[in-house]
This record gives sequence, structure tokens and C-alpha cells, in this order.
Amino acid sequence: MLQPIIIAGGTGSRLWPLSRELFPKQFHKLHGDLTMLQTTILRLEGLDCAKPIVICNENHRFLVAEQLRQIGYLDHNIILEPVGKNTAPAIALTSFYATQNGKNPNLLVLPADHIILDKVAFQTSVKNAISHIENNQLVTFGIVPNAPETGYGYIQCGEKLGDNGFLISQFVEKPDLQTAQNYLSSGDYLWNSGMFAFRAQTYLNELQKHRPDIHEVCEKSIQNTNDDLDFVRIDNEIFATCPEDSIDYAVMEKTTDAVVVPMNAGWNDVGAWSSLWEVSDKDEQGNAKIGDVLAIDSHNNYLFAETGLVATVGVSDAIVVQTKDAVLVTNRDNAQNVKSLVQALGRQN
Ligand code: GDD
Ligand code: MG
Repeated sequence: MLQPIIIAGGTGSRLWPLSRELFPKQFHKLHGDLTMLQTTILRLEGLDCAKPIVICNENHRFLVAEQLRQIGYLDHNIILEPVGKNTAPAIALTSFYATQNGKNPNLLVLPADHIILDKVAFQTSVKNAISHIENNQLVTFGIVPNAPETGYGYIQCGEKLGDNGFLISQFVEKPDLQTAQNYLSSGDYLWNSGMFAFRAQTYLNELQKHRPDIHEVCEKSIQNTNDDLDFVRIDNEIFATCPEDSIDYAVMEKTTDAVVVPMNAGWNDVGAWSSLWEVSDKDEQGNAKIGDVLAIDSHNNYLFAETGLVATVGVSDAIVVQTKDAVLVTNRDNAQNVKSLVQALGRQN
């Protein structure tokens, strides 16, 4: 039995102006009729799973509760962070929560904001991870890379373990471009998908070894929770002192006992508008059109209209995102830089 943990505390700033501080991308319907969070949860149906635990910022508690209710999950398990401290603490809080009463469940940690087109292949990889989880190893799911992306973790595969896993000989989070290019051309590396699986106690032991400071604050924070209806509130004052770090830097780069299970499931982390264009249905001219859109003599654009009409003539490789209070115009190659726009604005809403 797996205990899914959905990490849903990010801000998704590269998807501005749709993704905002108060309404980040994981709560939007970016691909299909359901939100990213809902799709993440429904993708588990058919696996031997407990009810998911969602960990998110307290500002989003009603959004999360409502979106769970819409898909039939009525009694919630939602942990609320007063402030985001990145994924190492978020997963630590959830692990401490899950080990209360002497339990030590097999956790499946899933970001709430990924597209995975092939549910069957996803579930096969998850099943392939179980023997490694039960062997007290940290498991990540690896994707065959097709570009020298610098926003991902890279995993060098070591010794083969049976039919469906490799020992990790090196884990490098967000390398520079030259290093990413070398990894890509070597053919030895997989991307880290950002999904993980391990026994709760295995993660806590590794965290204690490599980041005892984070371990200590999270342990204290979870002892001081406040149950508020369906929500578990983390103590504000204690958690505010927690160092920020991601699981990738805090644990995965340092551990010597981790396994990568390959996953070939049409994965896309939809970090930017350009990745949404890649996975969207397109017309014969290569335009992805969402909402009321008219495109004439225009090719390979991502055109999104939330209210009113978006119309283009003679435009190619562009991204136009129109929402009720802001319009973004950029080209597909610049989509990663939307983050700097949000920083320049100094706010997302
Ligand atoms: N609850 C909670 N609290 N969730 C968080 C927090 C937090 O403080 N910070 C981030 N998250 C959630 C985000 O919502 C997202 O679903 C997930 O954790 C990963 O965070 P990102 O900020 O999107 O990480 P990243 O994309 O830079 O890098 C990670 O994912 C890549 C694949 O998409 C790493 O794991 C990389 O190694 C990996 O390649
Ligand atoms: Mg991400």
C-alpha cells in the first residue's frame, strides 16, 4: 500500500499572468477539463493507495479542499504551511505526520503540477519502485532527456538492479548549460522527474544525516500542530526558523543509497508556456488555441484568451496569454524568461 503525498506549494511564476500567488498553476485547468491537482490525484486510481495527503500553503486551503471535493474526496488530509520553505521541509513535515503512531508507510511524493499523458506507464513505474522502497532506498523516477535543460536534476545511472532500476551514481541538481550538454551527449543520464518514493522513515533518516537542521525544526513543528477541521496547521513561529532547501540539494545530491526507476509516460513539467504549447492540441498551422482565438496566416503560436478575443495576423512562434487584468506577449524561445518579468513586477497579483 502506498501513501501518496501531493506537494502543491509552488508558485509557478513562469506561467504568469495566469498563474498568480493566490492562484498558482497547480490549481488551474491547464490541460483537459480538470485542474493539475485533480489530475494528479485521479492518475493514482487503480493503484493500491491510501487517501492522498496534500501539503500546500495555508492561503490555498479552500482552493485545495474544494478541488478535492469536486472529485469526490470528501474527508481531507491537508497539511498547511504558514510559509513555503521548499520541498525538503515540506516532505519532512509530511513524513513526520505519516510516522505518527509508530507507522512507517511507503510514501509516493508527487508534484501537483506535472502533465503525464500515459497513466498506465506511470503506474507501471510506480509498481516497479515498490521493491526498492521496501529495501529502504530512496527512489526517484527518471525521464530520458531530449534537451540540455538547466532547470532539472540529472541522474547518472549506475549498477542495474533487476529489470527496472539503477543505483544512482551521481545526482546533480540544475547544472549549468555546458554541463547539461555534456550529460545529454554522454547518454548516461536521466532527468529527475521530481517524483519520489520511499518509506517515510528512510527519508527522515537521510535528512537527519545530511541536513539535521531541517530535520530538527520540522520535527518540532509537527509536534506543535493545530487541527482545524480537516486541516493540519503547522506552527508558524517554529516553522519560520526552518532553513529553505529542496529535497534535490538537501538529500538527493548527498545520499549514497538511491535508485532511479525509468519512466516513459509522456511526462512534462509544464514549467513554462512553451511546454504547454508542446503538449496542447494544435490546428493545421501548429497553433494551440485556448478560448476565443482567431489566427490568420499565423503559425506555431500558443494563444490563450481568458476573456474576450485574441486575434493574430502574420505572427509565428509567439505566445499570447490574455487574462482579465494582464496580457503577456513573448516568443516561444523566451518563455523561460517570464520569471524575470514577474520578479521585475515584484508581485504576481
Ligand atoms: N508544499 C510545498 N511547499 N510544495 C512546494 C514547495 C513548498 O515550499 N516548493 C515547491 N513545492 C512544490 C511545487 O508546487 C512543485 O509541485 C514541486 O514542489 C517542485 O517544486 P519546483 O519549484 O517546481 O521544483 P523545480 O521544477 O525547480 O525542480 C524539481 O522538479 C524538476 C522536474 O520538474 C526538482 O526535483 C528537479 O530535480 C526536477 O528535475
Ligand atoms: Mg517544477
